[in-house]
Amino acid sequence: MLAAYAARIDPQHPLDALEVGEIDVAATPGGAQTSDDWVEVQVRAAALNHHDLFSLRGVGLSAASLPMVLGCDAAGIAPDGSEVIVHGVINDPGFAGPDSTFDPRRSLLSERCPGTLAERVRVPRTNLVAKPAELTFSEAACLPTAWLTAYRMLFVQSGLRPGQTVLIQGAGGGVATALVLLARHAGLRVWVTSRSEERGERAASLGAHAWFPSGSRLPERVDAVMESVGAATWSHSINALRPGGAVVICGTTTGAEPERAELTKIFFKPLRVIGSTMGTRDELADLVGLLVATGLRPVIDSTTPLAEVGQAFERLESGSGFGKLVVSVG
Ligand SMILES: NC(=O)c1ccc[n+]([C@@H]2O[C@H](COP(=O)([O-])OP(=O)(O)OC[C@H]3O[C@@H](n4cnc5c(N)ncnc54)[C@H](OP(=O)(O)O)[C@@H]3O)[C@@H](O)[C@H]2O)c1
Repeated sequence: MLAAYAARIDPQHPLDALEVGEIDVAATPGGAQTSDDWVEVQVRAAALNHHDLFSLRGVGLSAASLPMVLGCDAAGIAPDGSEVIVHGVINDPGFAGPDSTFDPRRSLLSERCPGTLAERVRVPRTNLVAKPAELTFSEAACLPTAWLTAYRMLFVQSGLRPGQTVLIQGAGGGVATALVLLARHAGLRVWVTSRSEERGERAASLGAHAWFPSGSRLPERVDAVMESVGAATWSHSINALRPGGAVVICGTTTGAEPERAELTKIFFKPLRVIGSTMGTRDELADLVGLLVATGLRPVIDSTTPLAEVGQAFERLESGSGFGKLVVSVG
């Protein structure tokens, strides 16, 4: 079938490791999934995430698992003909805890099992969430990674209450645009940083109350910071918080080793540092319900056919996109 996959690993030039073409997915190292609990979904739309670039660089993907179909997000058709959204967290069969993100042996689609940038993807039946008719396949495909991560950061992890102030580092990313829309809708005062005036202004037009150049001094301290940029913004995030505030971190786009860890400020202010990763299937279902109830929809930067997905990867790598890069399939 047609798929976009990591044919090799290239830490310096990740796009050189990408191939788009026909591949026998069942014959790939992760493709021999035969359990009766798994079903095949006909993918109608998928979406790119920074995770796909990390995979091409070899982060979380070993040479032994190549070739590996990329992609964590999909919406499509289940074997019974129903429209579904695919939850991308694959739990160890032996895991029984209440929160699937606590499973130390969990993986994401495209790490051990073939991902969603393909005409079909196999997933555990329990990973399917019903797609309501109100959402298009493209909108639904934006939800399982970036939007679910943003939902959990804001509503499960941060402890924020309506009326408080949240700072979102980075304006234009998939997670960042989801955070802006969700936070504004939840009644928070929303502040954003960006390296670019154009992207800052676009975040403001989405609903951010104010945007500030990355690293600049804010008019006052905030209650919580949503951090996905990593090393480049870590010190700013810590300095931006009021005493007792929280930084919720889900990613390290610019690296995981900031120049200063800011340990003294963290204990002295004192601050809460909260890690967050993806979300549970139930949280994905709740997020879908929120979109249906509010009319809120993901910001889609562009939609690219699977056969031409290389162009979307170039946009992802350049950082020039604003919102989600959607891939149409079939
Ligand atoms: N843990 C999880 O479950 C999970 C889930 C989803 C994503 N993530 C992680 O979260 C991060 C964002 O993912 P994404 O898919 O939203 O990526 P993305 O769409 O590529 O967004 C990148 C963001 O980083 C900002 N940025 C990039 N370089 C920067 C720099 N030098 N200084 C300041 N800001 C910079 C950009 O903001 P401006 O261009 O506006 O400045 C943009 O908002 C990635 O590291 C990803 O792996 C983790």
